[in-house]
Amino acid sequence: MALYMKAAEVLDKVEKKKGAVKTLVYESKFQNIKQLFALVCETQKYSPVLQEIIETTQLLKETKLRINLAKVLVYDLLIGRGLKCGGAWKAMLLKHRSRLHAALARMKVKHKVSRHQDLLPPSVQHTSGVGVPRYVRVNTLKTTVEDVIDYLKRAGYSYQGTATCLEDLCHLSGKMFVGDLHLRELLVFSAKMDFHDHYLYKAGHIILQDKASCLPAYLLDPPSGGHVIDACAAPGNKTSHLAAIMKNKGKLFAFDLDAKRLSTMSILLLRAGVTCHQLANEDFLKVDPLSPKYKEVKHILLDPSCSGSGMVCLATAGSQEPQGQDSERLQALSAFQLRCLNHALQFPALERLVYSTCSVFSQENEEVVSACLQQNPGFRLVHLLPQWPERGNAPLAQCLRASTTKTLTHGFFVAILERQSTASEGIHVSPTGIALSTSAPSGGKEEVTQKSCTPCEPAKTSVEERQHFTAKKNRNRRKRTKQQA
Ligand SMILES: C[S@@+](CC[C@H](N)C(=O)[O-])C[C@H]1O[C@@H](n2cnc3c(N)ncnc32)[C@H](O)[C@@H]1O
Repeated sequence: MALYMKAAEVLDKVEKKKGAVKTLVYESKFQNIKQLFALVCETQKYSPVLQEIIETTQLLKETKLRINLAKVLVYDLLIGRGLKCGGAWKAMLLKHRSRLHAALARMKVKHKVSRHQDLLPPSVQHTSGVGVPRYVRVNTLKTTVEDVIDYLKRAGYSYQGTATCLEDLCHLSGKMFVGDLHLRELLVFSAKMDFHDHYLYKAGHIILQDKASCLPAYLLDPPSGGHVIDACAAPGNKTSHLAAIMKNKGKLFAFDLDAKRLSTMSILLLRAGVTCHQLANEDFLKVDPLSPKYKEVKHILLDPSCSGSGMVCLATAGSQEPQGQDSERLQALSAFQLRCLNHALQFPALERLVYSTCSVFSQENEEVVSACLQQNPGFRLVHLLPQWPERGNAPLAQCLRASTTKTLTHGFFVAILERQSTASEGIHVSPTGIALSTSAPSGGKEEVTQKSCTPCEPAKTSVEERQHFTAKKNRNRRKRTKQQA
C-alpha cells in the first residue's frame, strides 16, 4: 500500500511543481527508493494512456480513487509487474480488471500496435529509456569479467563478444549480451533484462550501473594505495567503482549529508566487498581541507546533488533548456555545485578532480566548471576520451556529455580538472580565459593534442605567468604550514 500511496503523493507534488521527481522521491523517505522512482517514472511516462483507460472505464466514479493513485495502481496492474499491495485497493482493482484490460486492448487495436510502449508518443519513446541498454558493471573486487561471462554463458546467456561500435548495443534481445566498447568491465544487455533478483547481483559480483555513471571513477583512475575523497557519495555506486580501481588499497574517504542514504550505502559496500573506505555523515562543505587526515588526498570525485534532468524517464530529459518553473531551483543547485567544486580544490595535495552530474542543463555543467576555472586559475581541464561521441558544449569540448541518443545512456556530464604543475609546458588559455590541458594521455582516456579543444589559441602562458603561479603556490603552502602549526 505504502508504495502506491507514496508514488501518488510524488505525482501530486510534481503536478503542483513542488520539485523534480528525483528530489521528491528522495525526500519521500520511502525505504525502497529505486522501486518508488521506477514506478513514478513509468506512471508519468504512460500518463496519457492511463488517463484514457481510467476515463473510458469511469474508474474514479466507481472506486472514488484519486486520479494519481488510480494511475499508479492501473499502471502496475496492466503494464507493470502486477499489483504488489494487498488489502482493499487490490480487491477493488481486481474487480475492474477485465474492463481495464479490455480498454487497454481496444487502445492497441485502435492504434494498430501490439506492444504497450508503442502507445507512447514518439518523442517519449525516444527519451524514455526504452532504447537504453541494461549495463552491468563487473565488480572486480569479487570476480573477473571472464568469470562472469562464463557463469552467464553456462546459465544460457549468449555472449556476442566485445562491441565494436554503438550499433552493436542496439540489437540486443533476449539473453544476448556484449562487452562494452569503452569500459572493459561493463557488460551490456537488452533494455528489458532485469538482474535485481539474480544471484550475481545479490552476491555483489555485479553492480547495476548505467554506463555514463561509470565514467567518473573510470576517468579519475586513482592509483591503488592512493588517498581519495568521494565528496557526495551515497548511495555509493561510484565509491565501490573507485574501490575496485584502487584494488581496495589506500584510503577512500566518503561523505554524505543524508544518514539514511549512507546506511543503505554501507550495506551495498559490504555486499561489494569494499574495505578501503571511511564513511562520514558530514557536510562536505564543512570538511576541513587542511586537516592532516586529508594531506595525501590527490584525487576527488565530486558528484553533487543535481536536477537529475538526465534521468531518461523525466519529462525534461533530452532538452538542454530548463523549464521556466525550474530556474530558481537550478540557480540554487548550480550555486551549491560551484561551492562544492571550489571547496574541493582547496585540498592541498589535490592533483585531479572529476566533476559529474546526471543533469543535461549547461547551468549545472559547463557553466559551473567555467566559473570554477575562472576562480581557480591553478587548475585546467583535461581532454577526455577522444573517441567519445558526445562532447561538452562549446567551448568546453574537453568534457563529456552522454545521452540516450548519442551514447545510449542516461543524460550525464563529466569534467576532469587537474592542477597545473608549475613545471608543465604548453598551457593554453582559451578566449574564455580557461586553461586547456596539454597533459600526457593515460591509458587512452585523455588526449595529448589540442586538435578538438575548440576554440583555442597558441600557448600564451609566459614565463612570468608561470613564475606567478609558482610564487602563489609557495605562498599558499607557507600559509597552510603556518595554520597547521
Ligand atoms: C547525485 S547523489 C550522489 C550519487 C553517488 N555519487 C553515487 O554514484 O551513488 C548526491 C548526493 O549528495 C549528497 N549531498 C548533498 N549535499 C551534500 C553535502 N553538502 N555534503 C555531502 N553530501 C551531500 C546527497 O545526500 C546525495 O546522496
